Amino acid sequence: MKDGTDNHPPIHAQRLRYDLKAKSTKYWLDGDAITTSFFNSLSVAFPLGEAFFIHSIRPWQTRIKGQLRTDIAKFIRQETDHCREHGAFNCGIEAGGYDTVRLKQRTKQVLARMQNESELTKLTYSMCCEHLTAILSAAILRDERLFARSDATVARLWLWHSVEEVEHKAVCFDTWLFATQHWSPARRWLTRSFALAMITAGFVKNRFLGQLDLLRQDGWTFRQAFPALVKTAFRKGSLGRSVVKDWLAFLRPGFHPWQIDDRALVAHCQAMLSRPLEPVGDVSEKPATTPKRVFSAA
Ligand SMILES: [Fe+2]
Ligand SMILES: [Fe+2]
Repeated sequence: MKDGTDNHPPIHAQRLRYDLKAKSTKYWLDGDAITTSFFNSLSVAFPLGEAFFIHSIRPWQTRIKGQLRTDIAKFIRQETDHCREHGAFNCGIEAGGYDTVRLKQRTKQVLARMQNESELTKLTYSMCCEHLTAILSAAILRDERLFARSDATVARLWLWHSVEEVEHKAVCFDTWLFATQHWSPARRWLTRSFALAMITAGFVKNRFLGQLDLLRQDGWTFRQAFPALVKTAFRKGSLGRSVVKDWLAFLRPGFHPWQIDDRALVAHCQAMLSRPLEPVGDVSEKPATTPKRVFSAA
């Protein structure tokens, strides 16, 4: 296996309907205001952001033949489902008393700037965003304690979305390889490395601003919220720290998303999804059973 492309599991389109009647608590993630605000801020951005990913990849679908064309169709189906279910979840955030208008407006402004770019540039941005969502999703799936004391319906929504993000993590990348097949390896490497740095800076900035906005509505001042945000994002065992290795892997010449072999992780979490919802319990003594991951060199 040279580039990892023969290493990916099939892409499923597993239907999930988020139960709108499920009453999630205000701080649904184990009473943690900071981490809840991160996921809520992310969820508010999803319907607009994922619609952009679909818009970016659709023009390439008819230019590609074979398995990748089928995978693009499955990618579109999965992202469409994610838009719909996070739209439902976002209604719950708003019903909980949060005003999300400014968060949506910020996402719209970012996407409006991208809309004026060429088809290939939009695909490049989407490919980088997909790398960020895939490595964040894998980190979420690896952390068995993250949602262990959360509302089970909400936890299932995030687990389902994270599994599908990892399943389709290479679709935009492979489409981008097709779109840039006449480029030199050096041009490809420089372009995607620069784009990832730019997209990551925007992602981190907008997540922090989104969290600050939501926390301000709960009475947090900037001086209270900002140090807590930074500490939560980058403390030992945090999602921020656990994505660093995968983020850096993208900068390797010859990188392919499936050089990070998440097949066992996906299979393990799909099995969890196939079981009925379990009541929230104390998992402090529960041993970690998440499969170990395998990295293959380029
Ligand atoms: Fe998604
Ligand atoms: Fe995605």
